[in-house]
Amino acid sequence: MKKNFDRLKEFNQVNYRRIVKVLTLDDFDLKGKTVFLRVDMNCPIDSETMEISGTKRIEEAILTIKALDQAKLVIASHQGRVGNNDYTGMDKHAKVLEKMLNKKIKYVEDVIGQAAQNEIKNLKDGEILLLDNLRLCAEENYEFSPEDAANTIMVKRLSHLFDLCVLDSFPSAHRSHPSIVGFPHVLPACAGRIVEREVRNLDEIMTVAKAPHVIVLGGSKVPDRLEAIKMLIKNGRADHVLLTGLIGNVFMRAQARVKYPLGIKREDEVVAKAHALIGEYPDVFSTPVDVAIDKDGQRVEMDVRDLQTGDKIYDLGPKTVEHYSKIISSAGTVFISGPAGFFEKKNFSYGTRNLLDAVANSMATTLVSGGHLTTALKEQGLEEKINHISTAGGALVLYLTGEKLPMIKALESAAIKYRSQ
Ligand code: 3PG
Repeated sequence: MKKNFDRLKEFNQVNYRRIVKVLTLDDFDLKGKTVFLRVDMNCPIDSETMEISGTKRIEEAILTIKALDQAKLVIASHQGRVGNNDYTGMDKHAKVLEKMLNKKIKYVEDVIGQAAQNEIKNLKDGEILLLDNLRLCAEENYEFSPEDAANTIMVKRLSHLFDLCVLDSFPSAHRSHPSIVGFPHVLPACAGRIVEREVRNLDEIMTVAKAPHVIVLGGSKVPDRLEAIKMLIKNGRADHVLLTGLIGNVFMRAQARVKYPLGIKREDEVVAKAHALIGEYPDVFSTPVDVAIDKDGQRVEMDVRDLQTGDKIYDLGPKTVEHYSKIISSAGTVFISGPAGFFEKKNFSYGTRNLLDAVANSMATTLVSGGHLTTALKEQGLEEKINHISTAGGALVLYLTGEKLPMIKALESAAIKYRSQ
């Protein structure tokens, strides 16, 4: 962690207990309680082997799991999105967790049915049960108000089996799904250690954040990102937006610099939205001037204007990296989220690695977000040079817009209710 930040951090750690509006694990006697713990073990899945290819989020969950070692603990998470390649069951996660904890993890291929309910009822103190992918339950794929979420079959069937709900899935804090806003509506609820740490660190950063605010945005969840970019700019949190990855390609298509379809979901809609954003904020966005494409497995660099129909853009080129690095070096605050290209392939990790270098070596307050970038950062030995590192992607982007996320609202309401009893 950077030195200039340490004093503020110390001050805030002392004061955090006083200013925090949500309850934490320290507010409850956990021994013998049956606890519903919502984590985010949504991991990257290798599309060829269907195995988990990055276990960082499982590793992170351990801190809270250990703090609950005297409870009857039921862990729940989603994995992927229905219809996508990364949508799988949680059996692999159970095995990884078991290995990391060196402790038996009970696993049930069920979420709300009789099998899951029986396993929950039969848990003994200190035992851990992992439920299957929450998104197997249709309701978990929809957004609800807390009241409606509390009325879902998921919450009605399961909530009476628990004494406490612990929310620790910060990467999905922007989703108002039943597991996130429904359970805390009907149960005593508190933040787990990850949520506690994220909220504290991010609030600290928001208080020291200086302009110019530079956002380096890549990754693949384009529709979510478009909404967040607009809010970041409107709320004065983005003076420059440097676009990379798939979202960079979408903006280049909107500028008619990529002249062929990219073949992504809802392409016309996202390109139209990107076009509108460029029109509304013409001076904010930078898009790549050169890229690297995949030609028979080889990296071939070229100017964007030389792209031919069907060329697969997998990375930034050196001119773009140099240009973006200059802007990063004069930033007051830099937030980088999402890989700059097909980072998993070594040939195409150049952009991601070099931009991370530029961020780590800048004098700015720095935030690095998302599973891929946090993995790359670790591999590059740069973690110590960054102010805040988070495995959250979209949730963190939205948090920085200043909007209150559904999970945080749910935790605050649960705290008010609990304190007034
Ligand atoms: C994430 O990886 O951003 C979170 O797990 C949320 O996933 P989602 O965007 O599919 O809701």
